Amino acid sequence: NPSQEKAEALRARKNRKRISCLTAYDYPTARLLDEAGVDVLLVGDSLGMVVLGYPDTTHVTMDHMLHHVAAVARGNQNALVVGDLPIHSYDTPEQALENAKLLVAAGADAVKLEGGVRQAEKVKLIVDAGIPVFGHMGMLPQRVLEEGGYKKKGKSEEEFEAILEGCHALEDAGVFAIVLESVVAVTAERLTGELSVPTIGIGCGEKTCDGEVAVITDLVGGYPWFVPPFAKPQTDISGAITQAVEWYKGQV
Ligand code: KIV
Ligand code: NA
Repeated sequence: NPSQEKAEALRARKNRKRISCLTAYDYPTARLLDEAGVDVLLVGDSLGMVVLGYPDTTHVTMDHMLHHVAAVARGNQNALVVGDLPIHSYDTPEQALENAKLLVAAGADAVKLEGGVRQAEKVKLIVDAGIPVFGHMGMLPQRVLEEGGYKKKGKSEEEFEAILEGCHALEDAGVFAIVLESVVAVTAERLTGELSVPTIGIGCGEKTCDGEVAVITDLVGGYPWFVPPFAKPQTDISGAITQAVEWYKGQV
């Protein structure tokens, strides 16, 4: 199917052409990013924080995801649209497959879930059903409450080995690419060298992976109340909105 072909084309870019991925949660943003030629539009569960006003991603539900995946899909023509499976939407393999199918029915080409060895069986089931899966290793935001914060990963040899084992389990299960989040740069580079699928980095340093993903509000200055240290804002959308509103109030 066309979604599998798009995912396979991205997988085949390993060691050839870097992959650009940005989050999108609504129609106009998706349309702008797709028209600008971004490879992957990720409807991330970061939705919960940067759009819905929750403190972390553990509040995001399938209903939230379906609503926003549908909006992004309406704005997209060429990019691969990935929908995040939110927390507790993939606790069992059967539930994972059922919810992956719902995201696809809403317009996603592929789904993403967090974790390695413990998710491999679920990944295989979804992939075997014809739905491409994007892996996610390193810092796993859906576990932020258990972990007591957002912590850098891959600092020790043991952590490198554990992440590599998880990534290999995901590769064997058939993922087309793996997000590496907040992994120290040298470890991200080593993982990228070991794996046969593209790694897509966030908070892993510059050009340590086969591609990068950024949260769109971090790129455009759309969420001024929290800016991660690795964000490189290229414009100030929040400031532009405030200025426009000041002008509007003055001329009303
Ligand atoms: O939800 C999200 O935006 C993500 C990216 C940070 C990879 O999962
Ligand atoms: Na996410």
